[in-house]
Amino acid sequence: AAGGLEFEERPESLAAIGEAIRQCRKCPIGCLDNQAVMGEGPSGAALMIVGEQPGDHEDMEGRPFVGPAGQLLDVHLERAGIDRSAAYVTNAVKHFKFTIKASGRGKRRLHQSPTAKEIDTCRWWIEGERELVKPKLVLAMGASAARGLLGKTVSISKVRGAPIPLDDGSELWVTAHPSYLLRLDGEAREKQAALFDADLAAVRARLG
Ligand code: URA
Repeated sequence: AAGGLEFEERPESLAAIGEAIRQCRKCPIGCLDNQAVMGEGPSGAALMIVGEQPGDHEDMEGRPFVGPAGQLLDVHLERAGIDRSAAYVTNAVKHFKFTIKASGRGKRRLHQSPTAKEIDTCRWWIEGERELVKPKLVLAMGASAARGLLGKTVSISKVRGAPIPLDDGSELWVTAHPSYLLRLDGEAREKQAALFDADLAAVRARLG
């Protein structure tokens, strides 16, 4: 697989991975003024849901998908009949990457996309989470998440709708990121929301 740093030994529990991520400074994002956001959910979850990286809200709360993208995700999961609390929810990158923007109302932290190299560095941790959780299905939302699982960049429109086999016998399903839906409106939003729902329905059917 492309990239990825060789660390000495991977921690053997999710709690230990969480602790190690808090110490991780292997890429510049870990050195910003933020906190690590570890994955959340039962360790034997059949479904692992993967986003890009924590946003402003997630960084403040220390939990994945609790801000606007998480709220939209919850609506679509419920519609698909997927129980979020039974899934393991995590991100390809474990720290929030941002720049500070000063405006009339004070300072705001603006999301910045992680680089391929930063995603590849953080693959060490998501691989560790997968080894421990052993999900049957992995849902990668957005291109960064897909890269975090595959180690290479894929086009979402080309790979969505069909499973991609992973090395451990599990299946990867790739879909759009809910933040992408949030940036659209009108017909474009409806069209993408319907595609997102169709992907979630396919995952739900596969979960059995
Ligand atoms: N977007 C993500 O990719 N992950 C989160 O946890 C929140 C927003």
